[in-house]
Amino acid sequence: MTATSSLVEIVSTGRFLPDNVVTNRDMESIVDTSDEWIVERTGIRERRIAPADMTTADMGAGAARVALERAGLAPEDVDVLIVSTATPDRLLPATACDVQALIGATNAVAFDVAAACTGFLYALTVAEGYISTGRGEIALVVATEKMSSIIDWEDRSTCVLFGDGAGAAVVRSASGERGLLGTHHQSDGRLADLLYRPAGGAAIPMDENVLRDRSHLIRMSGREVFKHAVRAMANSSGQALERSGWDLEDVDLVFPHQANIRIIKGAARYAGLPMEKVFVNVDRYGNMSSATIPVAMDEAIEEGRLQPGMKLLLVAFGAGLTWGAMAVRW
Ligand code: ACO
Repeated sequence: MTATSSLVEIVSTGRFLPDNVVTNRDMESIVDTSDEWIVERTGIRERRIAPADMTTADMGAGAARVALERAGLAPEDVDVLIVSTATPDRLLPATACDVQALIGATNAVAFDVAAACTGFLYALTVAEGYISTGRGEIALVVATEKMSSIIDWEDRSTCVLFGDGAGAAVVRSASGERGLLGTHHQSDGRLADLLYRPAGGAAIPMDENVLRDRSHLIRMSGREVFKHAVRAMANSSGQALERSGWDLEDVDLVFPHQANIRIIKGAARYAGLPMEKVFVNVDRYGNMSSATIPVAMDEAIEEGRLQPGMKLLLVAFGAGLTWGAMAVRW
């Protein structure tokens, strides 16, 4: 859990999505599934899949460059570069260091945050801490995910859900009323095995058994994750609003993590939020883990749906389990 601050704002966003569109019909030729099943259970119609030679850092750098340009800043202006990812290019060093090198953010301290789908919100809060305590002036938060590299393409219950992409936000001290307000974060490591990659890390290093069992790839108990996601996102939203002194009716626009339309609708119903106020693009990108919220915000700005003065609610849930919400005055 974090303290409330009104000192820090998002000044710009950016996104990068690989060109390659993989539709549900395309998925039918990979696993035993159907467009109807995927749309009905998830709301997903297509997703972007990065080519083999495009890295997590490449996508993150793409989103970061756009966000910096829109803020009128040079890469050298960045003091803190935080990457949220569940798909680091290498286990060592942090992907943030690769993004730093790619964009030329030579004056930044760079590190990763690992909180799966909730990572963008956690990373924003870390950035908020750096800026509000004067440890830096400009923070760049990048959420970048090459989910296609950790999906088991033989497991139809998971491979249809995910996509690749990146979003970024430039964060600095707030000049007026805009800013990150009440935040609520929570985790429950007892539920880690509901969504995880059993092997390939230090506990069970990669070997031929791991490769044979495919245990370095995502395993998920879908129904359990679903139940926890709905409740946790609704509860976290309530706590973030309370810490901001806002009522539910005050919220103009909600950016939920885009995992599945049924989770989004369930959480909205549980929280008492009408779907007209909820931004949805999961149909076009699937679940890009922590990249979904900044990509959605970037699209909403471009579409003119996100307007100055609006009261926003960002809310996410993911592996860990981790979840959180943040109230933002835009
Ligand atoms: N195509 C066709 N049939 C499928 C597919 C598929 N892609 N995947 C599973 N099925 C079958 C199953 O084999 C099962 O068949 P059976 O009854 O013959 O055994 C049947 O469909 C029902 O399977 P369930 O897993 O019970 O289906 P459910 O209704 O729970 O939907 C889903 C599965 C979509 C994964 C759902 O549980 C879900 O959305 N869970 C949330 C998980 C999620 O989104 N996680 C993302 C990461 S966490 C996060 O970002 C929030």
